[in-house]
Amino acid sequence: MKVFQHVSDLGDLKGALAEAFEIKKDPYKYEQLGRRKTALLIFFNNSLRTRLSTQKAAMNLGMNVIVLDVNQGAWKLETERGVIMDGDKSEHLLEAIPVMGCYCDVIGVRSFATFENRQDDYEEKILNQFIKYSGRPVFFMESATVHPLQSFADLITIEEYKKTARPKVVLSWAPHPKALPQAVPNSFAEWMNAADVDFVITHPEGYELDPQFVGDARVEYDQMKAFEGADFIYAKNWSCPGVTRPADYGKVLSRDMSWTVDAAHMAVTNNAYFMHCLPVRRNMIVTDDVIESPQSLVIPEAANREISATVVLKRILESL
Ligand code: CP
Repeated sequence: MKVFQHVSDLGDLKGALAEAFEIKKDPYKYEQLGRRKTALLIFFNNSLRTRLSTQKAAMNLGMNVIVLDVNQGAWKLETERGVIMDGDKSEHLLEAIPVMGCYCDVIGVRSFATFENRQDDYEEKILNQFIKYSGRPVFFMESATVHPLQSFADLITIEEYKKTARPKVVLSWAPHPKALPQAVPNSFAEWMNAADVDFVITHPEGYELDPQFVGDARVEYDQMKAFEGADFIYAKNWSCPGVTRPADYGKVLSRDMSWTVDAAHMAVTNNAYFMHCLPVRRNMIVTDDVIESPQSLVIPEAANREISATVVLKRILESL
């Protein structure tokens, strides 16, 4: 595997899940695979789970790991070609990327949407430059539009906890004070469409996700109706994807607190499990009692980030 961006990069999803459960039973089974190989993890944005779980996964496979926080100690990077670099940016990404590639065998990159230009974000301008110029396999650790390591971990968690063969899974928008990217809901939708689940997306009008990710999912604007009989509730905030009104891309259109997932919402479900990728704003996205309830899977989801990253790195190492 040379790029990990979409669910399709894993090929047969059932096979990838079987591999995940094999690794979960014995995380060190492939500890010789990464001997004398180096993973470089590049963060343009903050992280807790991705940083720790991906490092742990690389160590499970016997790899050396270098972590670079671009905004703390590296030269400030110019990303646009043709710019006269007389400002505060000392290095261009077009030199920095191949240099980074010299010191490693595999590169993971986190670079969020900037919301400056929808087309640049949705064309994955930064990540595609890493793919093109690094000379190394690249895996996405949350890009402008996708967060596949998270969605893979979410799917592993659903597989572990589901009580019926084809559970009802609901992705629900919830309020947040700041404009957040669409990467997590985009990927979650993509992965749920590929999985064997009854998938419903609910959000206020104006928050329609890009059709390439919505796929065949049912979209229900009445949140309570969407929650009825659900087996899993996956809450997440996202800013306006700009599908119906491009001028609204990246804007906060609603802070409607009636969308906060609380006990009344969970009461209409089929005793659903609650999921969120974390970090989460309590009593904005979800109330204290719901996230602290026995039905909350937020910690098992985070734990499965190590497993999803180990599978992905294993497959990349096998392709070197
Ligand atoms: N869920 C997730 O990616 O967490 P971090 O942003 O802390 O890495």
